Amino acid sequence: MSVAEKIGAGLDRVLSMELVRVTERAAVAAARLRGRGDEKAADQVAVDAMRTELNRLTIKGTVVIGEGERDEAPMLYIGEEVGDGHGPEVDIALDPLEGTTICAKNLPNALAVVALATKGSLLNAPDVYMDKIAIGPGYADDVIDIDATPAQNIERLAKAKGVDVSQITACILDRPRHAALIEAVRGTGAAIRLIGDGDVAGVIHTTDPDETGIDIYMGIGGAPEGVLAAAALRCIGGQIQGRLILDTPEKRERAARMGVSDPDRVYHAHEMARGDVLFAATGVTDGNMLSGVKFSHNSITTHTIVLRSSSRTVREIKARHQDMDKF
Ligand code: FBP
Repeated sequence: MSVAEKIGAGLDRVLSMELVRVTERAAVAAARLRGRGDEKAADQVAVDAMRTELNRLTIKGTVVIGEGERDEAPMLYIGEEVGDGHGPEVDIALDPLEGTTICAKNLPNALAVVALATKGSLLNAPDVYMDKIAIGPGYADDVIDIDATPAQNIERLAKAKGVDVSQITACILDRPRHAALIEAVRGTGAAIRLIGDGDVAGVIHTTDPDETGIDIYMGIGGAPEGVLAAAALRCIGGQIQGRLILDTPEKRERAARMGVSDPDRVYHAHEMARGDVLFAATGVTDGNMLSGVKFSHNSITTHTIVLRSSSRTVREIKARHQDMDKF
């Protein structure tokens, strides 16, 4: 067997380990500003740190999901080229601090997140809302349907899981726009975990209900976060359906410029993140799956998951960094 066959086709597996450094560095930078009430400052240091580390990777990378359009984001804007300019051509989706408010308030589940995929493989989603529904692995394709009612989705999931509806927990962003959804889910007898922010974590949590207590994610969050979550599910398994909310002519035009021809299209995980995908997330604050960054007098500890679609490996990396000058 050749080395290439052993390693497997697609993106180099060494790159997945390199990606860990990218999210670790961003998470440590943001964690220094946990609980300081300053979302912008925490985001800025995470962006700076992530960009520095991304530029060390041997890739020809293009940011397709980033900090915004070029005129509104000085760094890691959509279209920015990152990496050292050698190696594979890749698309990058990133959120150096997913849950800026969570970090500013030192609440659970803020993450530093990055996904990398072969060029042309990630949905170029505009920065609009996306309606989403997601469940973990092991279910038939027809269990959830974004066009079914919340009650139908909850009941079908309970049946597929072989439990009573009262044993299902849905994760929903705590927003006024979700009042009807929350009422409908509660009407079934299912429980709800209302989260203040951070629906990338909310979706990923569906992949391990025993650990997180969450069976299904429902509701409207950011479209860029939808693509990041889809990239994670491509690697772990699980299902997500998402529909962009293009409720003004301006949003429809913006989406069309980014290649979205059908504004009502429902995207599944493999349509938001195709081909070979790598994904890494490091905890900034303590969460249901990842611990936050811990600072001690002589080391910094980080907790990261790194995922690779071609092997479906889920690695958790707890790193103790003793060369603290690097951070
Ligand atoms: P930020 O990291 O940009 O603060 O986003 C946090 C977040 O909660 C996302 O996880 C979610 O997709 C989006 O905001 C929801 O948007 P809104 O706060 O406008 O409801």
